[in-house]
Amino acid sequence: MTPSKRRFLPLLLLFSLSALFILSYHSSFNLFFASNNNDTQLTNFKIHQNHNPNSSNFTLTIKLLAFDRLHSITRCLRSLANADYGNDRVNLHVYIDHFKEIDFVNGSVILDQKLQESTRILDFVDGFSWKFGDKFVHYRTGNVGLQAQWLEAWWPSSDDEFAFVVEDDLEVSPLYYKFLRTLIVHYYYNSSNFNPSIYGASLQRPRFVSGKHGNKLQLDTEDRLFLYQLVGTWGQLLFPRPWKEFRLWYNTHKAKGIKPILQGMVTTGWYKRMGERIWTPWFIKFIHSRGYFNIYTNFQKERALSVSNRDAGVNYGKTAGPDSQLLDERSLNFNLYEMQPLSNLKWYDFCFREVLPGRLVKSFDELAPVLHSVQKSKTIVLVSLFGVSQRIIMNMLCHFERLDIRNYIFVGPEMDFLRDLARRGHPVIDSKKLLKSITDSKFKGLEGSQAELIQEILVQAYVIKKCLDFGYDSWMVDGNMLPLSSNVLSDVDDFTYNISVMENSKILFVRSSSTTAKIWGDKFIYENAARAGSLLGDLRDREHFSCHMVKTLEERGVRIRKVDDLRFGLKIGTNYTNQTSVGDEKKMVFWSSEMRVDLIQSGLGKLGVWVVDGDNSCTSVVCHQT
Ligand SMILES: *[C@@H]1O[C@H](CO)[C@@H](O)[C@H](O)[C@H]1NC(C)=O
Ligand SMILES: *[C@@H]1O[C@H](CO)[C@@H](O)[C@H](O)[C@H]1NC(C)=O
Ligand SMILES: *[C@@H]1O[C@H](CO)[C@@H](O)[C@H](O)[C@H]1NC(C)=O
Ligand SMILES: *[C@@H]1O[C@H](CO)[C@@H](O)[C@H](O)[C@H]1NC(C)=O
Ligand SMILES: *[C@@H]1O[C@H](CO)[C@@H](O)[C@H](O)[C@H]1NC(C)=O
Ligand SMILES: *[C@@H]1O[C@H](CO)[C@@H](O)[C@H](O)[C@H]1NC(C)=O
Ligand SMILES: *[C@@H]1O[C@H](CO)[C@@H](O)[C@H](O)[C@H]1NC(C)=O
Ligand SMILES: *[C@@H]1O[C@H](CO)[C@@H](O)[C@H](O)[C@H]1NC(C)=O
Repeated sequence: MTPSKRRFLPLLLLFSLSALFILSYHSSFNLFFASNNNDTQLTNFKIHQNHNPNSSNFTLTIKLLAFDRLHSITRCLRSLANADYGNDRVNLHVYIDHFKEIDFVNGSVILDQKLQESTRILDFVDGFSWKFGDKFVHYRTGNVGLQAQWLEAWWPSSDDEFAFVVEDDLEVSPLYYKFLRTLIVHYYYNSSNFNPSIYGASLQRPRFVSGKHGNKLQLDTEDRLFLYQLVGTWGQLLFPRPWKEFRLWYNTHKAKGIKPILQGMVTTGWYKRMGERIWTPWFIKFIHSRGYFNIYTNFQKERALSVSNRDAGVNYGKTAGPDSQLLDERSLNFNLYEMQPLSNLKWYDFCFREVLPGRLVKSFDELAPVLHSVQKSKTIVLVSLFGVSQRIIMNMLCHFERLDIRNYIFVGPEMDFLRDLARRGHPVIDSKKLLKSITDSKFKGLEGSQAELIQEILVQAYVIKKCLDFGYDSWMVDGNMLPLSSNVLSDVDDFTYNISVMENSKILFVRSSSTTAKIWGDKFIYENAARAGSLLGDLRDREHFSCHMVKTLEERGVRIRKVDDLRFGLKIGTNYTNQTSVGDEKKMVFWSSEMRVDLIQSGLGKLGVWVVDGDNSCTSVVCHQT
């Protein structure tokens, strides 16, 4: 920016703000900040949604993964052939894994048996008539195990191609295909129900909570469909894009020797025991890092459209019998093909805790319901993400998950990353959209950091006002800090006044009281923004919201409690403190917003509070009592 332009900006801004102030003083605040609801579709971070809306010609291919169990594959194929496919063309691909190498010293008898069994399986599959489409058989030359069987079964050739994967000990209901077809048309091809987070649908009965030691899953809903992150391996429908994305992700991780370790998950224990014989730990790690979900059925009475007979094999030492009841025409006492709009379905994470995706506040009307859904004991933690890097934000989120801090809401500039956080279920305020009516007409000519600062100040001040209106206490925290225990932001010992601030401006606490409600009017908000605007030209570093707020308050004679930041918190990355461990008395850790991400990472790592991996996702899943 040229020096002359720089001098001009504050003037322009002051002018704009005073015009704005006069306007707003006479009209209601809400009216002035006219809501802009145009952009209702949640646009995704990486994925595009321009798939073919023509649902009448998608293809579904059955991928049957078989091994050495003739009895199993016979039962499975018969159930598949017994299903109703209408007039659709459905191809059948059968992948037969080879038996494992046999110890020759011990027994040619066993070897002969194995060879005969393979021949019988191949003969049976060859002779099996599949009249719904093509039949294709892939017979392996060596034993590859379940991981390669699954992963190599499919590489989607278009966005209109679906795969339904069954292992040979499964049995499906005759109704399964019509159900899957309805589901694809409803949740993939109907754009009002499409969501790029959904990777497929499982027909098996949902059984366990992987983040809670594999505890039995307790469903307290009668909703027939819901979303859950966990993959189901007994009858899984896969959507093309997420599967392709997974294959590429797997490729990268496998090549670099990165293991799919996700602490806190029962499946990670399986991986440690069974290693590359199984594939689910890889898929689960991928799903966790992307924040994707699977559709599940809940038909009550342990009924499902696909059941596992749990025959002896890789997964079961000895035959365990069917896990569920097959739902068929006789036991059907509801309309299987009636599907709710996606917005009515509930979403659950690996802890089977409900997730609320899509809480992206873009207008003032949308703010109140989100604040209500987020508050805990009438307290809100408002986290400012201005000038905070994505890795640092992710680390904070993972840290909040560990500490069970859930009453947060993020506020930041418009960016894809913020929208992606909302897609994953984190409440987010898009400050640019929120202020769009102003930035469009009054803030013309303001660009980059200048406009961003005003945005930051106006939006944060307004959100605090909204909290005060509802009687909520608010903690305004900067993204460049971390609380070190869950009660830092509720234990108000140090933050005793109606308004308290940490000396480094990383935390501002505003208690809901008649005093604060009186101070925090529209007039105050604008004067504060105008004040910040008038200082813009002088700003060397990014001055923070709380810093401006406090100065404005002090000019008005408001008493503010100042909390000593170095007594309360630990600063990393300077010569100022030389601690590598956190004493009991330290309640938070903070750093300069100028600090490089790798230095922050190593500083936090030394303190044991860096909990993000190379994928920018949490290293563990932490489930809390609900
Ligand atoms: C939404 O925005 C688009 C593009 O900016 C515009 O064409 C359309 O008319 C708007 N719709 C409404 C309902 O405002
Ligand atoms: C949809 O696909 C069907 C089957 O291929 C075709 O007959 C029809 O013309 C297509 N419709 C559109 C709108 O592309
Ligand atoms: C669907 O139909 C369109 C138009 O007829 C065609 O171009 C496309 O390849 C078809 N897709 C599939 C998956 O068959
Ligand atoms: C091989 O033979 C030994 C001794 O008869 C027996 O203990 C072992 O279980 C056999 N191993 C296999 C794979 O059959
Ligand atoms: C798409 O889904 C919505 C919501 O479930 C529904 O109201 C609408 O009828 C569906 N559209 C079609 C073409 O089926
Ligand atoms: C805080 O607010 C309460 C209620 O409005 C008031 O009585 C009290 O004096 C205020 N405390 C300070 C330190 O300003
Ligand atoms: C720490 O102190 C040394 C010696 O005074 C100085 O060279 C270095 O730049 C300081 N590092 C930081 C991060 O301030
Ligand atoms: C910082 O800590 C190291 C290791 O404990 C110590 O050797 C060094 O003297 C300390 N520096 C200061 C300035 O206290």
